[in-house]
Amino acid sequence: MTQKEISLEEQFQARIDRGESIEPKDWMPEKYRKTHIRQISQHAHSEVVGMLPEGNWITRTPNLRRKVGLLAKVQDEAGHGLYLYSAAETLGISRDEMFEQLHTGKAKYSSIFNYPTLSWADIGTIGWLVDGAAIINQVMLTRTSFGPYARAMVRICKEESFHQRQGYEIMIGLSHGTPEQKEMAQDALNRFWWPSLMMFGPKDDESPNTEMSVKWKIKRKTNDELRQQFIDITIPQAEYLGLTVPDPDLKWNEERGHYDFGAIDWDEFWQVVKGNGPCNKERLAARNKAWDEGAWVRDAALAHAEKKASKNVSKVA
Ligand code: 3HC
Repeated sequence: MTQKEISLEEQFQARIDRGESIEPKDWMPEKYRKTHIRQISQHAHSEVVGMLPEGNWITRTPNLRRKVGLLAKVQDEAGHGLYLYSAAETLGISRDEMFEQLHTGKAKYSSIFNYPTLSWADIGTIGWLVDGAAIINQVMLTRTSFGPYARAMVRICKEESFHQRQGYEIMIGLSHGTPEQKEMAQDALNRFWWPSLMMFGPKDDESPNTEMSVKWKIKRKTNDELRQQFIDITIPQAEYLGLTVPDPDLKWNEERGHYDFGAIDWDEFWQVVKGNGPCNKERLAARNKAWDEGAWVRDAALAHAEKKASKNVSKVA
């Protein structure tokens, strides 16, 4: 690197160390820009793909109140995706490019959304555990060093809290309901517990991005720290439901002040991340189908915008 480039990097790091917010037009290392495009676009893809497992139950909710809650939640997720795509666009990537990366399988999205939603209790468990895990991660991201990302998180976290609460309320109803309902809730917890822990990413010592992300204050806490925080908060919630967390090694460690927990199946994690999970193919097919079927809407919107623009030009002329 030239002397000038070195001092630019040093000045940039000094800004980060002072806790300053980096804005799109500020000088930033190319790697800082690239890792944000990677993380923010994949975060946006997760929001959009995350609509699919829950959308699967909108027509089958047990009553109108649950339908309204689920509709509102799924609609929120679409909005979260749009905020995040907009934040990523400030770094120079186009929306079409991001969509192409998702539709061709080049881009990742959260592994958790590659598991099927087999019962109504799964919808409660997703709100309780998946949105609960997302909140732990996203509250931390409200203090991330890139301004547009941090600001998008503020509103997203407010809405996630509603998502988590409506999910936990569903689980309270089921776990305090008939024996069959409690069994359905336990089955959903059994299937979603470990994949929810995987949402926080690989162990810190196997994460290629964490070291730089911590140095640049993209991450204020590491994957393992957030995972531990999630477990410590969630176990008492499971106990209140009277449900058993499917981990025989789980136990409170007074000395650590945290729960000790069993080994995560990282082979399963990487298989799902690599596209071999239970629903990866179905999710990508659904996103590609929606993209193709939505082409007429995009064409109409573009035609309208061009017509409007040409009208304005003729007015000015
Ligand atoms: N699913 C899929 N890929 C994952 C993953 C997961 N659960 N966890 C990690 N990965 C990928 C990473 O993207 C990275 O691959 P890449 O370099 O090709 O992008 C690789 O595995 C190594 O992981 P790292 O820990 O080194 O990667 P990061 O530093 O990016 O940390 C992360 C991973 C913690 C997920 C981080 O990217 C992050 O905080 N992202 C923003 C939050 C987010 O995306 N949450 C997803 C859920 S959103 C959601 O739940 C919506 C809610 O409304 C329900």
